[in-house]
Amino acid sequence: MIADKLAISQARRHKSSVKVTSTRAAERSGHLIESFVNQSSETPLKRVLVVNFSQTGQLSDITAQLIAPLRNAGHTVHLETLQPETPFPFPWPIIDFIDAMPECVQLDAPQIKPLNIALDADFDLVILSYQVWFLSPGLPMTAFLKSPEGQRLINGKPVITLVACRNMWLSAQETMQRLIAEAGGQLRDHIAFTDRGHPLATFITTPRWVLTGKRDRFLGMPPAGVAPGEIQAASRFGRALSDALSKNEEKNGRAMLTGLRAVTVNPRLAISERAGRRAFGVWSKLIRSFGKRGQWQRRPALLVFSIYLIVMVLTVVPTSLLLQWLFSPLLKSRLEGLRAQLELPSGSQEFNLEKYDQ
Ligand SMILES: Cc1cc2nc3c(=O)[nH]c(=O)nc-3n(C[C@H](O)[C@H](O)[C@H](O)COP(=O)(O)O)c2cc1C
Repeated sequence: MIADKLAISQARRHKSSVKVTSTRAAERSGHLIESFVNQSSETPLKRVLVVNFSQTGQLSDITAQLIAPLRNAGHTVHLETLQPETPFPFPWPIIDFIDAMPECVQLDAPQIKPLNIALDADFDLVILSYQVWFLSPGLPMTAFLKSPEGQRLINGKPVITLVACRNMWLSAQETMQRLIAEAGGQLRDHIAFTDRGHPLATFITTPRWVLTGKRDRFLGMPPAGVAPGEIQAASRFGRALSDALSKNEEKNGRAMLTGLRAVTVNPRLAISERAGRRAFGVWSKLIRSFGKRGQWQRRPALLVFSIYLIVMVLTVVPTSLLLQWLFSPLLKSRLEGLRAQLELPSGSQEFNLEKYDQ
């Protein structure tokens, strides 16, 4: 914390006299770049808050790839890792896993430990790295966004969201957007990393991963999670963001990470997700009427919900995907419109990939 404060004050001191321009070669070799200094011009060295929570380390690895080019360019990055008062287990016992659903959906988050951020700390940009739990933001991130401290840090700030999950992040992102707006923040960009395995395969490999900790190839299905190459390529967002901050673009109200394939939306999954979200809404209220998280009184209801979930996954989801595929010529223009809308603000275009890829 002291180091961060020191760095923040150093950044402030440099603010009026130093201009830092990143060099790609130095980044690649992993060296600290204070690459280039132009004494006379204004300087845009910025203070960035990154809020993160990850159980397996996958999301932290992606976040680290994004942060490195910012730090290399001289921007000050405070990485805050959220710590629930009572840690969530990993791997998840199945009962705890299912039992988390109602609170995730109803945004009833447990306490997190106080943040390692000075009360008067001020940032130019906030990046929120979160996981999806039951089509909602993971509980630690919900806790942060609903806490007075989190809301103070976001109020009036440009915010970037970064998600890594199986493949269903649309509803969770809608919720994030609402919570960020309620806290007075302005969502500027969204980046989503997903498991590129077939949706039917990841229905097996992702639960296997979170329930057993095993993410390797299984019964011919690919390993669970985001591919290592994609994790590494996340640094392109850091390079682009670093350039944008150096041009004060965080102040102009527009997306800073377009043209980098920040998200790719499968509108067919969006339709399944909406149906799932509605069902989770009903089930979460019903289960909560039996008791609180961890109480045995709600176990029978959780059992019925689990059976419902398995039946849905085995029947309704494939049927819905099949129907959508069969009717896709008729639905094409509607689905394309939906895709364009859901991919905002950062989009799936690639016009800047060459510039910022390794
Ligand atoms: C309780 C729980 C619920 C989850 N629900 C979803 C979900 O609804 N959609 C999804 O795409 N991924 C879901 N996941 C996968 C996570 O988003 C994430 O990819 C996984 O937990 C690994 O995250 P980590 O590497 O940051 O620890 C869920 C994981 C957990 C633990």
